[in-house]
Amino acid sequence: MNIVKTVADLRAAVARARSEGKRIGLVPTMGNLHDGHVTLVRKAAQHADFVVASIFVNPLQFGANEDLDSYPRTLAADQARLVEAGCQLLFTPGVEDMYPNGMQQQTQVRVPDVSEGLCGQSRPGHFDGVATVVSKLFNMAQPDIAVFGEKDFQQLAVIRKMVRDLNIPVQVIGEPIVRNADGLALSSRNGYLTADELKAAPRLQQTLKTLASAIAEGRRDYPALLDEGRAALGAAGFRADYLEIREATTLHPADESSSDLVILAAAYLGKTRLIDNLAFNLS
Ligand code: PAJ
Repeated sequence: MNIVKTVADLRAAVARARSEGKRIGLVPTMGNLHDGHVTLVRKAAQHADFVVASIFVNPLQFGANEDLDSYPRTLAADQARLVEAGCQLLFTPGVEDMYPNGMQQQTQVRVPDVSEGLCGQSRPGHFDGVATVVSKLFNMAQPDIAVFGEKDFQQLAVIRKMVRDLNIPVQVIGEPIVRNADGLALSSRNGYLTADELKAAPRLQQTLKTLASAIAEGRRDYPALLDEGRAALGAAGFRADYLEIREATTLHPADESSSDLVILAAAYLGKTRLIDNLAFNLS
């Protein structure tokens, strides 16, 4: 696996692969790779002949009081995992490569509607930072396909809408959430959890499953159901940020007639903010 840091070197390596007739796949990450990321790389390798992964902890998507400085950086271990997963090229730009004119001067991509509410409400500007860096990565690597995880359900919806709205010639592929045996969705932020918090953390997914079962059994009193879910999270030691039942494509609030649903949650355990979701179809 080759490693490049500059946009020029990335473009040269991708151009070489393309001149050999290869299809290019891209997997954007912020590093500290776990089995969830590895699954995305393997998926990309099924759809492309030349897989590029990027590792860039993107300051533009972090709020002032968030974990930009403490976000885990584990490049050596990440490289080994990428090689094993079938990645041919790793792009590890610095902030100066990504934002040569500074972040204040950076043109930004804002994806309306789908990026408002949920994490967009709790983390103002977050999805502008994500959409901006992902569109830059798309322009830098010009991949045929790009793979993202459903773990970040709203992020995937934002990227799909951006690609449609801006006619970006990339096929976006979503991959299901990879979980621990106890149901906890893998996340780089799980490393922040204490031993006790790790024991409580699977209750987040269990709460989503309980709500989904109740809906499958016919309950449609969503506000009351969500109150029960919030109470369950509170009893398990979480401080709920949001818990919502939405239409899976638009992320608009679901009503009784909606059949394509997703339950999304963000909740704090101590100082750590975890997110999870469960998408399902009623028809
Ligand atoms: P990061 O959190 O590193 O995640 C990179 C990719 O891995 C995302 O598409 C995310 O949804 C996926 N992922 C994370 N945990 C997963 C899990 N348990 N199962 C399946 N996929 C999982 O998301 C970002 O980085 C950034 O916002 C980025 C898109 C790179 C833009 O900066």
